[in-house]
Amino acid sequence: MAEEHILAVARVERECFASPWTADGLRAELVSDTAVFLVALLNGILIGYGGMHFVCGEGYFDNIAVLPEFRRQGIGRAIVQALLDFARQHGGAFVSLEVRESNSGAFALYRMLGFRRVGRRRNFYTKPSEDALILTKRF
Ligand SMILES: CC(C)(COP(=O)(O)OP(=O)(O)OC[C@H]1O[C@@H](n2cnc3c(N)ncnc32)[C@H](O)[C@@H]1OP(=O)(O)O)[C@@H](O)C(=O)NCCC(=O)NCCS
Repeated sequence: MAEEHILAVARVERECFASPWTADGLRAELVSDTAVFLVALLNGILIGYGGMHFVCGEGYFDNIAVLPEFRRQGIGRAIVQALLDFARQHGGAFVSLEVRESNSGAFALYRMLGFRRVGRRRNFYTKPSEDALILTKRF
């Protein structure tokens, strides 16, 4: 992700999440030493993105999102796989994330890529209030 992608990523956020990251919030990641943010481009059009923070061998996924009209074509899987590859290539021990309990599509994607459920955060999400499942993949 580079400055030229920020407004398009903010649009993906607005389309995909009830509490979207703002352009300024995304821009701050461009100068973070620990941020690994990737974009998916189709013929130059930004159709998805994924963000992770990677610190001391531990990866934490912030967000993965694909525009609704481009889903179920393997793009989300490619984004997650690219972040996992980065973590593995940089000596990562494990990667973790939270997912809404009702988000069965994302849960299926993460399970497919080797994540396992390790815990729950009660009322982690708002709009609407919902528990988060904590998933981890160890290398
Ligand atoms: C979750 C998300 C990123 C998946 O992106 P995607 O590009 O559609 O995912 P893929 O096409 O790579 O899916 C790979 C596999 O994951 C599973 N999967 C993905 N979405 C699914 C859904 N809605 N229902 C059931 N399984 C699903 C399937 O096994 C799928 O393989 P298949 O299509 O061959 O059956 C996308 O649905 C999205 O942006 N959702 C809104 C934002 C979000 O919830 N992000 C995750 C926050 S933790």
